[in-house]
Amino acid sequence: MSKSNVVIGIAGGIAAYKACGVIREFTETGDNVKVVPTPNALRFVGAATLEALSGNPVDTEVFSRVDEVQHVRVGQEADLIVIAPATADLIARLAAGRADDLLTSTVLVATCPVVLAPAMHTEMWLNPATQENVATLRRRGVTVLEPAHGRLTGKDTGPGRMLEPSQIAQLARTVLATGPIQRSLEGKRVLISAGGTQENIDPVRFIGNRSSGRQGFALADVAVHRGADVTIVAGNTDALDTPAGAEVVRVRSTAELEEAMNARAAEADVVIMAAAVADYRPAQEATSKLKKGQADDSLSTLHLVENPDVLRGLVERRQAGETDAVIVGFAAETDNPLEFGRAKLTRKGADLLMVNAVTGGKVFGESHNEGWILGADGSETEVPQGSKHEVAVAIWDAIEAY
Ligand code: CTP
Repeated sequence: MSKSNVVIGIAGGIAAYKACGVIREFTETGDNVKVVPTPNALRFVGAATLEALSGNPVDTEVFSRVDEVQHVRVGQEADLIVIAPATADLIARLAAGRADDLLTSTVLVATCPVVLAPAMHTEMWLNPATQENVATLRRRGVTVLEPAHGRLTGKDTGPGRMLEPSQIAQLARTVLATGPIQRSLEGKRVLISAGGTQENIDPVRFIGNRSSGRQGFALADVAVHRGADVTIVAGNTDALDTPAGAEVVRVRSTAELEEAMNARAAEADVVIMAAAVADYRPAQEATSKLKKGQADDSLSTLHLVENPDVLRGLVERRQAGETDAVIVGFAAETDNPLEFGRAKLTRKGADLLMVNAVTGGKVFGESHNEGWILGADGSETEVPQGSKHEVAVAIWDAIEAY
């Protein structure tokens, strides 16, 4: 990954303490980080902390280090500007094109991508003044991320909580690689399955697979920030952070996953089957732990029955008029990925299929992915290697163009 000049702006809100985590996300990958707090941000975090973490001097005013023409140079040299937290006041000043401190003048000069992670009380976020300012900035190509729902400074909860540093860094890097996140899915309802299903053998054992759920979660995350209403039906996704702003329905077995998907498909505009579904399950789930060397040999010889094909079932529901969603599948192939992928797309009847080559455990659990997006219309789009978020952007672009 090439190293970038990243400006991290910090506005004066309590979430400023979390900006230290955002700084670390970028310094740890070797990026050159210049921190530009507003004067009020320094009431929450000290300049010494920000200088130590970033390894660069910290200024807030256009009148410091005037000989270096900082108010112009910092913005000109930036490859990416991330402002976390972005308060209601800072958003208003940016929307008005103000340049009354070093951070706002830096943004006014910059031509690089700008990503804002808002943090404020729910009332302030929902206030039409803020919403109109946000819409203005988005129209100008600024990526204003959706804040999370959750605990705010006081006892109240609601939208307005800042995203976690790792989520902000992930989305900001995606913007750097693929451009601003547009609000192209506003009003759309999206249903995504993710992770691996697990089939119980007995109370302590199960059949599972190595899917991490990362690609499905990345698809959900990108959809949330494109403005969609997102539901994830999640099998085993281990320690993954839940994408903020998406509803998550937890399931374990294929039967549970199928039920959850079918129950929600009618209302969805897009359905994505990113889950790694167990093809077979034990014919019988033992109610007590199976023991070695039993007369019926039940542990060494498992009798399996085939699971329903959830994707195929969703396509059949559409044929029956129960949903008109665009349906997207995945295929992980070790050999002849394009040929097997095309055959799978036809067999399943989906509209689009993301094909990954998974030789040698590639893709599973990793942070990167690559492959091809095949369309039922005969289209074939190569997806170059990138983070699972970058691949998610390519998949959403293909879905929206379909
Ligand atoms: N899938 C599904 N239900 C199943 C198996 C798979 O919905 N019982 C979905 C997956 O979520 C994925 C697509 O079908 O979107 C392809 O999964 P894959 O395991 O590659 O396909 P299979 O039909 O199981 O074919 P293979 O014999 O190659 O495993």
